[in-house]
Amino acid sequence: MLWGGRFKKELDPAAMRFSSSFGTDYRLLEVDIEGSQAHAEMLHKIGILSGAELKQIHDGLNLIVAKWHDGSWQPKPDDFEDVHSAVEQRLTELIGSVAGKLHTGRSRNDQIATDEKLWIKKACASLKKNQSALQKSLLAISEQHVYTLMPGYTHMQRAQPISVAFHLLAYVEMLERDKMRLDHVMQLADESPLGSGAMAGSTLPLDRDMTSRSLRFSKPTSNALDSVSDRDFFMDLLHACVVGMIHLSRLSEEIILWSSAEWHFVKLSDAWSTGSSMMPQKKNPDMAELIRGKTGRVFGAYIALSSTLKGLPLSYNRDLQEDKDAVFDAYDTYHDSLPIMSEMIGSMEIDAGRFSDELEGDFSLATDLADKLVIKGEPFRNAHRIIGEVVQFAEKFSKKLNEISLKELQSIYPGFESGDLELLSIRNVLERKQTYGSPNPELVRAQIERWKLSIL
Ligand code: ARG
Repeated sequence: MLWGGRFKKELDPAAMRFSSSFGTDYRLLEVDIEGSQAHAEMLHKIGILSGAELKQIHDGLNLIVAKWHDGSWQPKPDDFEDVHSAVEQRLTELIGSVAGKLHTGRSRNDQIATDEKLWIKKACASLKKNQSALQKSLLAISEQHVYTLMPGYTHMQRAQPISVAFHLLAYVEMLERDKMRLDHVMQLADESPLGSGAMAGSTLPLDRDMTSRSLRFSKPTSNALDSVSDRDFFMDLLHACVVGMIHLSRLSEEIILWSSAEWHFVKLSDAWSTGSSMMPQKKNPDMAELIRGKTGRVFGAYIALSSTLKGLPLSYNRDLQEDKDAVFDAYDTYHDSLPIMSEMIGSMEIDAGRFSDELEGDFSLATDLADKLVIKGEPFRNAHRIIGEVVQFAEKFSKKLNEISLKELQSIYPGFESGDLELLSIRNVLERKQTYGSPNPELVRAQIERWKLSIL
């Protein structure tokens, strides 16, 4: 027990079970020890630990990590209140009473905040790696499909023809913003709480600059009260996971649609889809469905932690211990969804010719035709109305746009010329786009090249 003096009884086993966080925070063991090593070195510098004591503590902590990794130390969750007490008790077993000097000037309150901030840096770096890998998978597909036509939608209604590359590059953009969001999370978590003590600092001359530097934080936090009660960095990470999962769920939904019999646009690899136990013909996009479904639990984590933090008075309250379950679960879910998406999408077959005939003469060319009238000098609103009449005519006679004769077109608007019919051919539909950010294949290729250079 860490607080022996004042207490006459051991904590009730049921209370221990209820309050232990070791089943979750064991994941912080390495960063906890990293923080302890930095603290010990600083205690040596200010004369609280002798050189020999520092070495004992240093070696003892290293041994704990080594034994933890090789499995020869397997502490049981219910035996400890948390990772900090587990490490301290083990260190005492290993080196005796010198271990008791390590906690000088430190509370588990500044210790947990420090651990969490050290963890978040590694977590963000690992997420960014997975995000980049997904961007690369999307780019590899895009390179093959700069000219592969598909309908683009607004309101789930066919809007204008686009390419598969253009569509997937939209997700590359989203992922880039997701990475930037994590950069911001890391930046906000970049101050060291170590040395804030329980909530009001210490009467000992702790060198907070030194521990901040050795743990590679940019500087120590400036208010001890805030330092031990702040969990904004976890809310920021959860927000980043929420937005990242929203993006993955949108892509999942599209893959689910594209693989349906109605679209029959993509075929998922057998390795990344499942069958039905009853219907022999089925091939189900389960991975995409699960990513879409798991998005809900990441939202749940956000709600859970924000509810815990709401109205919590300063400074540390034990409620804060609940933060880790929510954060680790959301992080694991998002972290693991990214490579699943990369593999699933990278191994899926796209039927490149699926839409070329279907889009020939399709109403989705109507905006391009209206633009043509604008070039002839018609105000856009008139052009919009005239092409609307052309579409109405086509619908009435069950024709596609390219099945209407020039004569028929001229009966609606005498200004139509034979060259305008060219526009109704799908052949150059993408090349006709001129604006930056459009699906023009030249521009899309330039985007792909740009991404290839910038994504590491
Ligand atoms: N397990 C605790 C947490 O995660 C560590 C800090 C405990 N502090 C305390 N005074 N009981 O929040």
